[in-house]
Order: sequence, then structure tokens, then C-alpha cells
Amino acid sequence: MRFLHFSDIHLEQGFREVSSRRFLNKRLVGWMNLRLRRAKHYKNAPAKVRALADLVEREKVDVALCSGDYTALGTEPEIVYARECIEPIRAAAQAYVTVPGNHDVYLPDALGIFEEHFADVLTTDLPDLAGDDLWPQVRLFDGVAVITVNSARPNPPISRSSGRIPDDQLAGLEAALAHPEVQSRFVFVMTHYAPRLKSGRPDTPNHGLENADEFLALLAQVPRGAICHGHVHKCFHVQVPETPMTLFGAGSTTQAGAEGLWLFDIGEGGAHAIRGHWTGEAYELDPAARVDL
Ligand SMILES: [Fe+2]
Ligand SMILES: [Fe+2]
Repeated sequence: MRFLHFSDIHLEQGFREVSSRRFLNKRLVGWMNLRLRRAKHYKNAPAKVRALADLVEREKVDVALCSGDYTALGTEPEIVYARECIEPIRAAAQAYVTVPGNHDVYLPDALGIFEEHFADVLTTDLPDLAGDDLWPQVRLFDGVAVITVNSARPNPPISRSSGRIPDDQLAGLEAALAHPEVQSRFVFVMTHYAPRLKSGRPDTPNHGLENADEFLALLAQVPRGAICHGHVHKCFHVQVPETPMTLFGAGSTTQAGAEGLWLFDIGEGGAHAIRGHWTGEAYELDPAARVDL
């Protein structure tokens, strides 16, 4: 089966309908940051998302995986706009699996909006393992299981953008990994936050995954699989001593000059990932940048 992993598309439209009340907080700083520094990096993001749908069709991708950060400031008009933009990708693939990023739950008033507008793709084949907050979700495909946990949370302090996987979800992840339907399959585990950087070291306390060590410890016994994440806007893969699973960061698939993605082929004969890049008009694969799994 063929999987496309992309992330951090950061569509930055839809603010006109947002009330000023929702801006009198960290969003004002975030919005000024967008206008002054960030917008130029994402002005072609909608066209790139359309090009991702072309890639899904061209490469006959079975399952699209997106590790969050669809928006900039997590307001409902942004979430609605992002949901519309990814619809061609969802329609082109057999299945679409996703988690929110910290920008999609930017402040406490954003909680629940993502789940409402992405409800049709937030499904699980093992509902007994999911908590009240929906996660973990498990999707079972031919020879492959995809487990998602939600590490994104609102971060009202201006300088903080860290994440944490709730303890209940870690317990659910442990149960999912022990499930016979999962144990017989190649396992993707996807969350927004990077458990490790490209160097193999943890991210900073203000930007990283608070309980990355506990997360990786649960994944120590997974013989065949990959960890897919976003948040760090660099496309990379890294092997760490804590788990046999390779970590794949898609980076920010739409950020000008830093576009990245991973295409995975998982079959009985083996599994590998190929990195992709943006040519200026389309996403193309780099067969030389191949990682055997
Ligand atoms: Fe991001
Ligand atoms: Fe993020």
C-alpha cells in the first residue's frame, strides 16, 4: 500500500470573519507575526495543497496522512477553509488520516472546532481503545495499521508552543500496540509533535513534546514501523536508540523553500520511504532519497 505523509500546510486565510474579541490575546501577536514575517512563506500554500491532490492521483496514493498545523491561529473560519482545501486530497485517496497541530488549537477557545469540522475523517477501527477525547485512533489497512495520538494543546503564553500526549492516550497507545490486529501489521504512529529532532536529540522545553521519552519508551518493542510527525519545519528522517521505528518529519509541506513530504510503499516484500520536493509547479519524488524500513 502507498501512503503520503505531509504536514504543517499552514493555510493562512479566513481571518476577515473572525471577531476582534478573539484577537485580544496571543492571536494578536501571532497575527502581527504573520503579516510581518510569515505570510510570504505561505502565500502559495493553497496552490501547493491542490498540487498535493495531483500527486495523490498521479502516484496512486492509497492513504494520505497529515500530521496537523492546517491553520495559523486556529479560528473557526480558518479551520473551515482548511477543510475545504484538503477535500481534493481526501477525495483522491482511499483514506485520509490526521491529527490537529498546535496552531489548530491555538488558544483554549479553539478546542473542539477541529474535531467538529474534520469529524468525517477522525474515525477509528478499534473504538474500544479510544478515550472521550477521540484518541488514540487506529485505522487498519491491508498489512498496515495507522495509530494516531493527539499531542497538540493550547499554549496561551506567547513564547511557548510545546505539546504533550495525555496519559490516557499513552495507555491507549500501549493497548493498541498489543492488539492482535495491530501486532500482525506494519505500524505507523502519527502525532503532531516531534519526539526527537534531526540530531536525534529532544526539542527544547518551550517547543518540544514534553513526554517524548515516555512516548518513545512505548514504541521500543515495535519491530516494523515508522513514526510520522510535523511541527518542526524541516523534512528529515532519523533513527534513534529508543525504538527500532524510524522517525519521519515531513516538515512544512507548503513553506516556501522548505517544502517536504514522504511517500511510503509498504508491502509483503518490504517497506521503504521516498522523500518528495516542490519544483515550483508540482511535487516530485526523489528516488535517490530512499529510506528502507
Ligand atoms: Fe507548524
Ligand atoms: Fe506545530
